[in-house]
Amino acid sequence: MNLKDKYINFFIEKGHKQIPSSPVVPEGDNTVLFTTAGMQPLTPYLRGETHPLGTRLVDCQKCIRTNDLDEVGDLTHHTFFEMLGNWSLGDYFKKESISYSFEFLTEVLNIPIERLAVTCFVGNDETPKDEESFKIWNELGIPKERIAFLGVDDNWWPDFGAYGLCGPDSEIFYFRSDDEIPEVFDPEDDRWVEIWNNVFMEYYHDENGYIPLEKKNVDTGMGVERVTAILEGVNDNYKSSIFKEYIELIEKYSGKSYEGNEKNMRIIADHVRTIAMILGENSSVKPSNTDQGYILRRLIRRVIRHEKVLGIDVNSDFLEIMLRKIVKDYKKYYKELEENEEKIVNLTLQEQQKFSKTIDKGLKQFEKVIKLSNKEISGKDAFHLYDTYGFPLELTVELAIEKGLKVDEDGFYKLFKEHQEKSRLGAQGKFESGLLSKGEEETKYHTATHLLNAALKVVLKDPNIHQKGSNITSERLRFDFNFDRKLTDEEKKQIEDLINKWISEDLKVTKVLMKKEQAVKTGAEASFIERYPDEVNVYSIGDVSKEICSGPHVKSTKELGTFKIKKEEASSSGIRRIKAILQ
Ligand code: ALA
Repeated sequence: MNLKDKYINFFIEKGHKQIPSSPVVPEGDNTVLFTTAGMQPLTPYLRGETHPLGTRLVDCQKCIRTNDLDEVGDLTHHTFFEMLGNWSLGDYFKKESISYSFEFLTEVLNIPIERLAVTCFVGNDETPKDEESFKIWNELGIPKERIAFLGVDDNWWPDFGAYGLCGPDSEIFYFRSDDEIPEVFDPEDDRWVEIWNNVFMEYYHDENGYIPLEKKNVDTGMGVERVTAILEGVNDNYKSSIFKEYIELIEKYSGKSYEGNEKNMRIIADHVRTIAMILGENSSVKPSNTDQGYILRRLIRRVIRHEKVLGIDVNSDFLEIMLRKIVKDYKKYYKELEENEEKIVNLTLQEQQKFSKTIDKGLKQFEKVIKLSNKEISGKDAFHLYDTYGFPLELTVELAIEKGLKVDEDGFYKLFKEHQEKSRLGAQGKFESGLLSKGEEETKYHTATHLLNAALKVVLKDPNIHQKGSNITSERLRFDFNFDRKLTDEEKKQIEDLINKWISEDLKVTKVLMKKEQAVKTGAEASFIERYPDEVNVYSIGDVSKEICSGPHVKSTKELGTFKIKKEEASSSGIRRIKAILQ
């Protein structure tokens, strides 16, 4: 039995209900591009809503993290990975959670206790030391020398300081080496690798501090690829049973061996799986120049480029064979792959055809460019490669790095924006200046828009409502959101009343600069997340709203006056539009 089946069966025996993986392209949610952790789709339940399957859940969640995209090619990084997790929604807490983990590792996976070590939270001014977890581990048989107490950087989830659900965690490490196992566990010693994280979500953090939750949760996460490699005794994830046959296929089609060509082969093996998983769902994502579609395009084009490096015939059936194998190998867990098999193959091959027409010419152009470039490829050249030959900027950067060169990325973006702006304005027939002016009135409408976004979720009792479009003038706001029916007069009134109540409470608007990743993890609302820089401003309005936004906003809600909905109508299929004013 593989790790996934063992894990799921174990937790089912412990009274958990298995839930299917949520889509990796989140449904009706444009705050994040992809699902990045098992807990993400469970956020409403961790906040206290009742889950239809009860309070003990287990699953294997499809996850994609694209912040590591450039690191793929080394021993351990992946864009797609599977995360095993078990949850207690206000049910069991530390004792059972740790005992289950211990039993699974030592009795199901038969890992000797000597190979295990753990970390617990050391505490700080705001939250106490996690003595309880220490005691539980120790009583189970982990000697105190193998238990390290660490601070918020290691033993807090998500990041300390971020608003939202959070808590201390306890991480489990495995000694991956044939060396003698040191008696004292040193978390800095990289022969100890983390295999499982148990998060004790017991606080809600907002401006009032760390408020203990009435119902404490457990959220755990175990990465399938890493733990499988460890259990199989290989330190290269791509040599584990998960990737072995794919690497063999790449060897066959390229006529080259893995040794000496690891990087190119790993990139292909990793990306092909991610491509199949993105397209293997009932979403409308397809290769494009925006959002998930752009990531998909980059992945496919990067695969094609690495096929070329390895000498694989781009017009052979290589990609199709790889994609169909993924469907076959994973359909037991994600049946949607089988339903979408033809879509996966067709859309990938169409994109391949498109790019294979220009890639050779583009590569020639690239060679010309580097001959004329000194240390840096200009933004203009990078834009030309993008615009004429379909080279995503990241591909040009990758090629440049291989030649020891840099790319003027700012210059590229400037041209990119100019080009976009021209076509957008051209399409709208609007060339007048002042389109982006932000006066006092617009500022008020910006803040009111955040309140509306928050109020809709409360009144319509749907946390999955998000902004799908917004337009502000000095006279009104216009707000599009996903919802499938007309609002009743009563609902419109409730929305107005709630917003006016918030306005009268004189809620303070505060701004915190955060890493984008962290902001997303804390559940801050965000539309078009990929368009933001790595560091973003998160605006909070009292504790009713938290959104990534570039502002500007008023200082407190009493500046807003009275909120009134003027119109509610359909905007497009599944999208409603509200026009509202401040009086
Ligand atoms: N949510 C926790 C993590 O991703 C388990 O590490």
